[in-house]
Amino acid sequence: MSHPLVNDRYIKATLQQETDRTPIWMMRQAGRYLPEYRQLRAEAGSFMDLCTNPELACEVTMQPLRRYPLDAAILFSDILTIPDAMGLGLYFTPGEGPAFKKAVRDEKAVKALPILDPHQELKYVTDAVSTIRRELKGSVPLIGFSGSPWTLATYMVEGGTTKNFSEVKGLMYEQPAVMHQLLDKLADSIIVYLNAQVEAGAQALMIFDTWGGVLTPRDYQELSLRYMAKIVDGLTREKDGQRIPVTLFTKGGGKWLDLMAATGCDCLGVDWTTDLNEARQRVAGKVALQGNMDPSMLYASDERIREEVETILASYGHGNGHVFNLGHGIHQTVNPEKAGVFINAVHELSKKYHQ
Ligand code: CP3
Repeated sequence: MSHPLVNDRYIKATLQQETDRTPIWMMRQAGRYLPEYRQLRAEAGSFMDLCTNPELACEVTMQPLRRYPLDAAILFSDILTIPDAMGLGLYFTPGEGPAFKKAVRDEKAVKALPILDPHQELKYVTDAVSTIRRELKGSVPLIGFSGSPWTLATYMVEGGTTKNFSEVKGLMYEQPAVMHQLLDKLADSIIVYLNAQVEAGAQALMIFDTWGGVLTPRDYQELSLRYMAKIVDGLTREKDGQRIPVTLFTKGGGKWLDLMAATGCDCLGVDWTTDLNEARQRVAGKVALQGNMDPSMLYASDERIREEVETILASYGHGNGHVFNLGHGIHQTVNPEKAGVFINAVHELSKKYHQ
């Protein structure tokens, strides 16, 4: 009963195949900047009430697609579902971000973490994936995702959001073996979690390494990249004769793109602090690139937004292998009309780079 994919620009671009224009989606495209999201969240009770109800998660996933001509859908969920499923007790306090009832700070706590069975505690995620796939009817591909082991570990060891990473870096410098045990356990859990998303219908995968950029170059390779490479190795890369593209995104990782490209992933997310032209030269055709407009550009005038889209398209240059996106998630105070201006500009201005 699976529908053929009507719009496959996103899949093609991540695989560096030819498209008629540059595909676009936005990180955090479903969320608080949309009034219809805020209304549904108020009706449901909370963010987690949306995530854990497959019908509601599906509805929220579809909201931005009804407004804008986007080239991909992304599962509505969160990277912190894994530590929550491991028993840490995720909760959100308005204005404060995510937090856990229990933090993981020593060997005993790491050893006590269960190996994840995605068909048990996280069944609500795979149910959401299959519900969304049914609702999309093959219009655009569905991206599944997870956090990177390092990024999940920062939240688990800190017990929530942090500014200076003192707990997680303390553990990493003082007890590296314990840190590696935690990262390895997370990598194994992420592999089965992402493969379960593919089994349920995810057509592409993305790994968010939001905090890889706070590491030294050596620690980045040992503590973040190494475990992302292990995940890439363990993922289902083909389903029903279709390649499942994998994108890695390390915020602040522009200086390590060549190392990231060597993991065997298909595409790299790039934030706005890196020049796309330079990035394209660095990866030398090994992978596609996703990005990278500064999300704050959506506070500028329509003309300025269009000008920036043109600059970024020109910076990547002619040819395939570019997925347009913001360099990070869309901010919650952005006017939704500005997102429309941005998306339409990519549609209109990118054609000439594909002729
Ligand atoms: O539309 C989409 O992109 C899909 C849904 C999605 C969410 N979170 C929904 C969400 C995705 C892909 C994520 C990933 C995520 N979650 C990341 C990696 C990407 C990044 O932004 O770097 C991280 C670090 C998290 C952890 C997280 N979840 C934080 C820090 C917060 C609170 C603050 C914030 O950034 O908004 C969340 C909550 C969250 N996740 C919301 C949404 C829509 C807001 C919840 C609400 O108040 O309604």
